[in-house]
Amino acid sequence: MSTSSALSTTQVVAVIGTGAMGAGIAQIAAAAGHPVKLLDARPDAAARAVAGIRAQFVKMAEKGKLTAEAATAAGGRLIAVEHATDLADAALVVEAIVENLEAKQKLYADLESIVAVDCIFGTNTSSISVTAIGAALKNPERLAGLHFFNPAPLMALVEIVSGLATDQAVADTLFATATAWGKTPVHAKSTPGFIVNRVARPYYAEALRLAQEGAADYATIDAVLREAGGFRMGPFELMDMIGHDVNFAVTNSVWRAFYNDQRFLPSLIQQELVDAGFYGKKTGRGFYDYREGAVKPLPASEARQKCSEKISLFGESTVTNALASRLQAAQAAFDRQPASDGRIASIGNAVLFITDGRSATQRAAESGIANTVLIDLALDYTRATRLAIATAEQCAPEARTAAIVLLQAAGFAVSHFADVPGLAVMRTVAMLANEAADAVNQGVCSVTAADSAMRLGVNYPQGPLAWADQVGVENICNVLANLGAGYGEDRYRISPLIQRAVFAARNIHD
Ligand SMILES: NC(=O)c1ccc[n+]([C@@H]2O[C@H](COP(=O)([O-])OP(=O)(O)OC[C@H]3O[C@@H](n4cnc5c(N)ncnc54)[C@H](O)[C@@H]3O)[C@@H](O)[C@H]2O)c1
Repeated sequence: MSTSSALSTTQVVAVIGTGAMGAGIAQIAAAAGHPVKLLDARPDAAARAVAGIRAQFVKMAEKGKLTAEAATAAGGRLIAVEHATDLADAALVVEAIVENLEAKQKLYADLESIVAVDCIFGTNTSSISVTAIGAALKNPERLAGLHFFNPAPLMALVEIVSGLATDQAVADTLFATATAWGKTPVHAKSTPGFIVNRVARPYYAEALRLAQEGAADYATIDAVLREAGGFRMGPFELMDMIGHDVNFAVTNSVWRAFYNDQRFLPSLIQQELVDAGFYGKKTGRGFYDYREGAVKPLPASEARQKCSEKISLFGESTVTNALASRLQAAQAAFDRQPASDGRIASIGNAVLFITDGRSATQRAAESGIANTVLIDLALDYTRATRLAIATAEQCAPEARTAAIVLLQAAGFAVSHFADVPGLAVMRTVAMLANEAADAVNQGVCSVTAADSAMRLGVNYPQGPLAWADQVGVENICNVLANLGAGYGEDRYRISPLIQRAVFAARNIHD
């Protein structure tokens, strides 16, 4: 825990680069009580940013989020300046200029001869090594990453990124200052993607793989991640919103920075979109069509079917208990049976299991249960509105129908996927947890920092490591092992942290 104190609100904060991020950061610092100096290379940009932030404060006062006096006072603390020499009295200089190593190095190297020796430098870079920016400085220990998320005034997370030469006291002061500004900071080591931009890669990558393998269409995969996974946006609609130029560039930069580690391999589908100039919402086309008159496709859901076979639920797991209460609420008859070989339910000849990372076809072959039906993971089986399923090639059509009827009776919309291993939510969560575990295992951040970064930086419904504990670390480990064996790819290799937790029979959080 940090013992350093926050900067005092009498101390001047300078923000260089007053575009989308810089303006947001200046707004936060002024609202927290600091005099804030803004500088931009474009003439008038800083003055325009000041006017924009003041208007923002007035709007907040109109909505009752600030008193009118506080809004005027905060607005009065913003000062647009024209020269770096005007920043001599700054205690902290945050840069949010163009994402370019040489530009950032030059900016801070020039500043060193202007500001006091104890002035802290906080770079808002999202992808450049903090260590490399620091290499150009006489006093690199004063530099750390101060990585806000967009839109900065609304997003709670700030990654405080330490480069190789960063003084821990500097990182601690930034941590305390971000906290005083109402943010939730996390410490991270300067490694490619820091925490969020690294751990989030599988959210896009696994969905892209599913699409490439024809598991389901984009709208259906998106709907499953939202309605069963509890994510705010599905991966395809999210990539369309971020823009494929940006999202693909981040994926490529993380992949290259990790020396082409297969775990971060970019997707040919996304490359095609970039090549076509289909960047998503901003260009009118991406995975979806946003042009005038275009209709957003609906997710594929199985039509209502009939079957009056007996339903049995097996054991007392979270999923069987959820199914029991949902069937009861729908007044559908079922009986309960003791746990048996991991099955969760049966109806007629169909036997339902939760996916363990093997395809239904492989599982049917290995278990001798031809009518194997796999269901996907849900964040909360009591509340999910949709479930993805896969059926074995050996499965009889009546058994497939029966399984769909069971899940529909329990109130789920059912999306029948091609028989891909790990389905959508399970595979995504396993890979998110694996990446978070590796970041922790490599000393990039703590377990709590990884979880809190993903909840607050990209609004995940649950931190990936807490989610792994909830699913059972052993189950996650199994899914990864089966994916690894099935695909024969190094991509699914299991993080040593997950393996150790399994061998020690404990949660990752213990
Ligand atoms: N946009 C995001 O979602 C986001 C999120 C987190 C971090 N970041 C990082 O924040 C930084 C800024 O991003 P942005 O989206 O606000 O960019 P932006 O293009 O909106 O703003 C950049 C501003 O910096 C100014 N500028 C460029 N070079 C300068 C220099 N040498 N000196 C002074 N001013 C200069 C430009 O005139 C512009 O006003 C980048 O490093 C980016 O990677 C962006």
